[in-house]
This record gives sequence, C-alpha cells and structure tokens, in this order.
Amino acid sequence: MATRIQAVPPLTLPRSERRAPPCALVVFGASGDLTHRKLMPALFKLRAAGSLTEHSAVVGVARRAWNADGFRAEVRAALAEFASRGVEPRDWEAFAESLDYVSGDFEDPATYKKLASRLAELDRERGLEGTRLYYLATPPSEFATILHRLDQAGLVSKPKVSPWSRVIIEKPIGRDLESARALNTLVARVLDESQTFRIDHYLGKETVQNLMVFRFANSIFEPLWNRKYVDYVEICAMETVGVGARGKFYEETGVLRDIVQSHLLEVQCLVAMEPPTTGDADDIRGEKLKVLHGLRQEGPDTIDRNLVLGQYRGYRDEPGVSKDSVTPTFAALRVFIDNWRWQGVPFYLRAGKKLAKRVTEVSLHMQPVPLCLFGREDVCERIEPNVLALRIQPDEGIYLRFASKIPGHDVAVGTVAMDMKYTEAFGGEPPEAYERLLLDAMRGDATLFSRRDAVEASWAWITPVLDYIDKNPPRDFPNYEPGSWGPERARELMRRDRRAWSEL
Ligand code: BG6
Repeated sequence: MATRIQAVPPLTLPRSERRAPPCALVVFGASGDLTHRKLMPALFKLRAAGSLTEHSAVVGVARRAWNADGFRAEVRAALAEFASRGVEPRDWEAFAESLDYVSGDFEDPATYKKLASRLAELDRERGLEGTRLYYLATPPSEFATILHRLDQAGLVSKPKVSPWSRVIIEKPIGRDLESARALNTLVARVLDESQTFRIDHYLGKETVQNLMVFRFANSIFEPLWNRKYVDYVEICAMETVGVGARGKFYEETGVLRDIVQSHLLEVQCLVAMEPPTTGDADDIRGEKLKVLHGLRQEGPDTIDRNLVLGQYRGYRDEPGVSKDSVTPTFAALRVFIDNWRWQGVPFYLRAGKKLAKRVTEVSLHMQPVPLCLFGREDVCERIEPNVLALRIQPDEGIYLRFASKIPGHDVAVGTVAMDMKYTEAFGGEPPEAYERLLLDAMRGDATLFSRRDAVEASWAWITPVLDYIDKNPPRDFPNYEPGSWGPERARELMRRDRRAWSEL
C-alpha cells in the first residue's frame, strides 16, 4: 500500500541564491569521457536554468588540435547524446557563446602561456575579474604536472586573496593510503585545503544530500537512530552495467577502490554521523571523519569472515582486462563502527557490476518487537520488523514498512508501507549530481566535497583489506553470472547472522 506524500508548499530557493558568481571554468581533459558525459550536460543545464550567468566562460583544455568552433561542435554532439532532455536552440546558442578552447600538451609550459593570455582576454571581454575554477578531469597521473604548471604560470592565486582560484579533483584520490597521502601532499604544495575540491559525485545526488535533511530536519527519526532501536543497516550500490570500455582503468581499481572506499563510505558516514554543531562545511565533515575513525579494523584472521568478493563471468573477456584477472567486480562486507551510537550494529555493504538490477539504497532494519501480544503463533510470526529504506536511485524515494491489522473480525497482522517518491512529491527528475557540485565549487561551498583527512582515513581503513587480498588472491573467480545477485557466498555472509539481503 502506498501513501501519497506531497511537498506542500513546493519549496524552491529564490533564483538569485542559486546563481554562481561569474568565473572562468577551465576543464583539463576536455576531450575525455567525463567531460562529454557529465560535465558539459551539467554546465549546459546550469546555463539554461540561469544558474550560470552570461558572463561565465567554460574553457576546454586538451591535446586535440581543435579551435573553439571545433570544441563547440564536440560539445554539441555530446549534448545530443548525453543531455537528459532536449537541447533548445536558444539555450544552446547561449551556452555555445560561453565555450572556448585551448589546445596543448599538459606538460608544455607554452600551453599555460596560451591559457593565461586567453583567460586575460576573457577577463576583459566578460568582466570576470580573474576568478578561476580549474577542473582536473584527467587521469590522476596528470594531476601533478597540471598543478605544477598552473602554479608556475601564476594561474593559481593564494587562498583568501581576491580574485579566488579553486581546483576540482576527480576521484580516485590515490589507490591506497600511501599514494593518497602522496597525492594530497603534492596538491597541498600548490593549493590550500580551502581551494581544493575533491569530488565524489555521490555527494551531489539529491537523495544522498537528503540523508542529512531527513535525519536532522525531522524530530521523529533521530531518537531511534542508534543501536538501541536499529538491528542492522544495509547499504548497497548495484549496477547492471559491466566495465564496458573502462577495462584498463577497472583492472587497477576494482570495486573496493571504485565504489566502496569512496561512494559507499561517504554514504555510510552520512547515515552514521552525529548531528554536527552547525551546518558549516567543516562541522559536517568533522563529524563524518569521526565515523571513519570508528570503523573497526579487521585483522588478517577476521577479514575473510567479513568480506566476500566476486567477479562476473565474462569480465576477463572485456577489452583491457587480463585473461587471469583477479580484480573483483563485486564486494559484500560486514562492517562495524566502534562508537557509542553504533557499537554491535552490523553495516552490510554490497556493491557490484553486471547484477540483476540497478539500485542504490540504504535500509535501516529496526529491532523486532520484544513481545508478541496477539496470542496466536501464526499471527506473531507474521510481524516483521520495521524497515526504513532510503532509495538513492533510481525510483528515488523513502519507504517505511510497518505492521498493520488486516481489517476483519479476527486479529490478523500484515505488512504495509508508506512510500514517498520524489517524482510524485516534487515533480520531475532530481537534478544531476554534477550540476549541484559544479555550482557549489563556484560558490565556494565545500560541504559536499571530501576533505583531505577523510580521504586518508577511508584509505587507512581499506588499505589493510586491499593488502590482504593482494596476498590472498581469490581463487574462485569468475564466480557469479551476469544478471544475478552476485556470488552465493554473499548470501552466506548474511545467513550466518540469521539474516538475508533485502529484496530490491
Ligand atoms: C563511478 C564509478 O564513480 O560511479 C563507476 O567509477 C560507476 O564505475 C559510477 O559506474 C556509478 O555512478 P552512478 O551515478 O551511475 O551510480
């Protein structure tokens, strides 16, 4: 049974608050997949919605020998393929007018000279006053060179100095604790932490942001949000797609680095954190950090009991993948947070590719009732514990399962649900994660970006697991069929605790 919930009255921020200050957004890696699929569609929508002013400029930088018109043609083709809705000619013209391009090698100082003079022209033409947002949409191996050259060319100004300059860095930030530290140290040589925006696009998803609003703008849930009432928590990110053309990248990452270390831990932090003192970026990020510090570190003797890895059949035939690859494409983990609120409550994390359904969801399974008052055993057996599910994607919404009397002359109990769907409550699809994140970076709001200490804390937790796997590579790969729910052992992980994964 579904209960319709509507937003009354519909809430939208006044337009002016959502506008970004005019700036030049410089995208390194402008010919790449991320730029085409995500960044340009997001920027286009921001411009069409008026969140990017007509003064703002978007400058692509890549090796391809395009001119500005060539770049515009590429972007137009990308929008035709990836924009979530049609491209109105008027919106396209307005956006195209803001696009520019500098071609060159990232290592070559001449590229930065050209960029500097182009940016100076744009400052004059568009009244930008030197504000810069650089987006490193390149493989991490290019970050050091680009940052060093930007610094050398005087294109990044010191923090707290006007005009501002900021840098967005794409994940993965390293591949273990040591490399993450090295990369962060390198970044810190050029940038202050306040100028560094490490992106994890999950944090830009409406439904992920709503985790905080749901917890801290309602008074009825928070008192239940702890070990006294919560039996266990599930967090899953299941995908139907395989690695596609990203085999080479994926061989070096695997599901633990690609999804668990970043996306799932970010979500887990939002679910498990204490209420921050204020809504400031650093208060929130400080509370998330404490969760990461509370994650229980399993030793070599216990990792195996709490971790199941899988690889889909056919993965080894994907382009760029080795024929005897032991890279996991699926992981199920049982994780504990050793703190006052969550001691003893298992968090079951599950993520993988080529699975039966695309679904990302958090569910809190509440304790069973302590005593059944309805006499008959068959009635009592039908009382299922309450479940609160936060559906991150698709079919975004919030679902609460509870027991109810089935109408009739006898006492019979059934399970019903209240189900809020974003599309019904607010109308339309929620905005794309990259829209919000780009806007926030331009506005200088770092709340939804990962701070250095948190990135390192998450690597500190997962690196021993990765080391363990390196020393004890899985021997049963491939071990699940495409279109299934993952390897059989994942079910056992739950069964051992007398539980089962939620049906999604
Ligand atoms: C990326 C991963 O960070 O997130 C991909 O590298 C994954 O492997 C993607 O497919 C999932 O994001 P979304 O927004 O489609 O759930």
